[in-house]
Amino acid sequence: MKSLNLLLLFFFTISICLFGGRSWAEEECITCHKKVTPGQVKDWSVSKHAENDITCSVCHGEGHTSAKDIDKVVLPDEHKCAECHEEQFNQFKRGKHQFGWTSMNALPITHVEPDELMEGGRGCGGCHNMGIKTEAQKKEQREKGYRYQNNSCDECHTRHSFSKKEALDPRACQQCHMGYDHPQWEMWSSSKHGSRWFARLAGNLPKDAQAPKCQDCHMPGGDHENRTAWGFLGVRLPLPEDPQWAKDRVMILKALGVLNPETGKPTARLEAVKAVRLARLTQEEWQKERDRMLDICSRCHSRKYAKTQLDMGDEMMRKADRLMAQAIQIVADLYKDGILKKRPNQPFAFPDFLYFMRTDFSAADPTSYKTMANGLTHIEQVLFEMYMKHRMRTYQGFFHMNPDYAYWYGWAMMTKDLGEIKELAEQMRAAAKVEK
Ligand code: HEC
Ligand code: HEC
Ligand code: HEC
Ligand code: HEC
Ligand code: HEC
Ligand code: HEC
Ligand code: HEC
Ligand code: HEC
Repeated sequence: MKSLNLLLLFFFTISICLFGGRSWAEEECITCHKKVTPGQVKDWSVSKHAENDITCSVCHGEGHTSAKDIDKVVLPDEHKCAECHEEQFNQFKRGKHQFGWTSMNALPITHVEPDELMEGGRGCGGCHNMGIKTEAQKKEQREKGYRYQNNSCDECHTRHSFSKKEALDPRACQQCHMGYDHPQWEMWSSSKHGSRWFARLAGNLPKDAQAPKCQDCHMPGGDHENRTAWGFLGVRLPLPEDPQWAKDRVMILKALGVLNPETGKPTARLEAVKAVRLARLTQEEWQKERDRMLDICSRCHSRKYAKTQLDMGDEMMRKADRLMAQAIQIVADLYKDGILKKRPNQPFAFPDFLYFMRTDFSAADPTSYKTMANGLTHIEQVLFEMYMKHRMRTYQGFFHMNPDYAYWYGWAMMTKDLGEIKELAEQMRAAAKVEK
């Protein structure tokens, strides 16, 4: 009896020494996964979680314990992290990032594109999985066989190292804030702010030299709520006081389909825009974000200097809207004169920026994009690109202190687009006359 007790004590002590007091189930995860997925275990072992005994099963549950029951494993979403990191989760929930999935799904285009690019987490879904999904959305995804990438928190501090230092590196933002319609990475990294950051990293500037990165301006003090004054689309309510700018804005809002082009009244889309907080809806809401940004700039620059810079950005937006509205008008007139015809799924006989690049699609027939018929005309493609790519670069480039993006990739391309649209419209009118 006594020797049995001693034996038990012996095994107990050994297991504590070997496994640091972890449960057998948890330890089995690690032992087996050292063989199955050694990289994951390595990554976890360098994390603060490993240090604090937050083991595999804390996040993945204990349902799966062998190769035969893999489908019983839990793939944890943000709510799991919230159990221990409530503060960051609550901040995240107040900010824009939580709307990624919802705003993507609010667009008609999303539902006619290949699932691999959406649910599958590449394409739109590869960046917009930064966002909280509803239970119904998660269920649909699982049923379709796509069950990964449901966690937003591991977009900046990637699994399984879950490192704060990594998330503080501007390269943590690069995958998503780059490219076609939001090249903040390219703009920042080649601006003086960015090039100083890289010079400092290479040891070519002293450690204390100042060089603001994305997080300094958009996550000050580690605040996980983020939002800017103008936002992505650069629209705001109420309309500007300047009468011409107000008119140009109305034209843009019509092309976004949030105002009815015939009556000027709000449409159902405006509600969708409000739901994902796509636009600031009051002057105060806008001003609050702008003032917050000015406080940040003022840590290094004089407030006067910084305000002048941001005011010029607003002014460039006003000028870009002038070009934009002229271009929309030209295409709208083609609809009015029957030269362009309303497509079956188009809400109005008016250009529609939510149709994206598609040459054709029909919500009723998801394969219709293959037919290439009845879709966006070339002139509308040019108009779309003018809006989605070049107009945004004009002010995004300005706000990120990038001369080349603001001019060559932004403003200059807008003037080129407008010229092309004028010429295409003339050709289309001439062709219509001949046909008659
Ligand atoms: C006896 C070996 C074994 C044990 C014990 C084990 N696993 Fe696994 N686990 C596997 C194998 C095999 C796979 C499949 C790997 C693959 O697809 O390449 C897997 C897959 C997984 C996956 C990925 C599932 C997916 O859908 O991709 C997770 C997460 C996971 N295990 C967590 C755990 C946790 C947590 C524990 C402990 C509670 C555990 N495992 C215990 C063998 C094991
Ligand atoms: C702090 C929470 C947390 C801990 C601890 C944790 N994981 Fe994970 N794990 C995640 C998250 C989040 C995902 C991604 C879920 C998704 O795709 O939606 C994931 C995914 C996985 C996957 C499947 C995806 C892939 O990249 O292959 C495997 C395998 C896995 N974990 C293994 C492990 C193992 C083994 C351990 C312990 C050594 C562990 N995890 C510990 C949070 C955790
Ligand atoms: C059961 C509690 C628990 C859960 C669940 C949990 N964590 Fe943690 N996490 C901790 C503890 C404890 C620390 C260490 C805190 C410290 O060092 O101050 C930590 C630290 C962190 C850190 C800071 C690491 C660093 O480099 O300083 C990050 C980031 C983090 N967790 C992210 C996550 C994410 C993302 C999830 C969900 C996938 C998650 N955690 C789930 C308990 C948890
Ligand atoms: C996984 C992709 C992804 C990563 C990584 C990412 N973001 Fe985002 N970010 C998005 C998406 C998607 C949106 C738009 C969300 C929506 O649909 O409302 C967004 C929106 C924003 C906005 C709000 C702009 C506005 O409308 O006012 C800011 C600011 C921002 N991100 C900053 C950052 C910073 C800083 C980092 C790095 C620390 C970062 N993001 C990392 C995908 C990402
Ligand atoms: C490379 C990553 C990436 C891809 C791919 C991507 N997006 Fe985005 N999307 C973002 C980021 C980042 C933002 C926020 C940019 C900003 O504020 O300047 C954004 C903004 C948006 C917004 C506006 C959200 C808001 O409230 O301001 C919508 C809607 C949207 N994307 C839909 C889509 C759709 C639909 C697709 C695919 C056709 C797509 N996105 C592809 C990263 C991406
Ligand atoms: C020096 C401060 C600063 C840095 C560094 C910075 N931004 Fe910005 N960002 C701004 C300002 C200013 C705006 C415009 C705010 C407004 O609307 O008033 C902005 C706007 C944005 C927006 C909304 C759309 C737009 O571009 O106008 C996103 C998204 C964004 N930044 C992401 C990033 C990312 C990602 C990085 C790093 C690659 C970054 N920013 C670096 C100051 C900064
Ligand atoms: C857009 C990128 C981004 C996303 C998404 C993100 N984080 Fe963070 N996180 C950061 C940055 C940057 C820091 C470092 C903040 C600082 O110290 O200035 C950080 C720090 C943390 C820390 C450490 C806090 C501390 O001071 O020790 C925790 C914990 C954490 N995040 C949890 C989460 C959780 C939970 C989520 C999901 C709800 C999440 N993060 C999503 C960028 C992000
Ligand atoms: C952490 C310090 C820091 C912050 C915060 C900061 N800057 Fe800078 N900024 C610098 C430094 C350093 C330079 C390079 C030296 C110089 O030209 O003054 C610079 C350069 C500039 C330049 C000149 C770029 C060029 O092409 O020469 C502009 C414009 C500018 N910043 C505007 C802003 C605005 C607007 C904000 C706020 C949105 C801001 N900065 C935030 C440190 C900062």
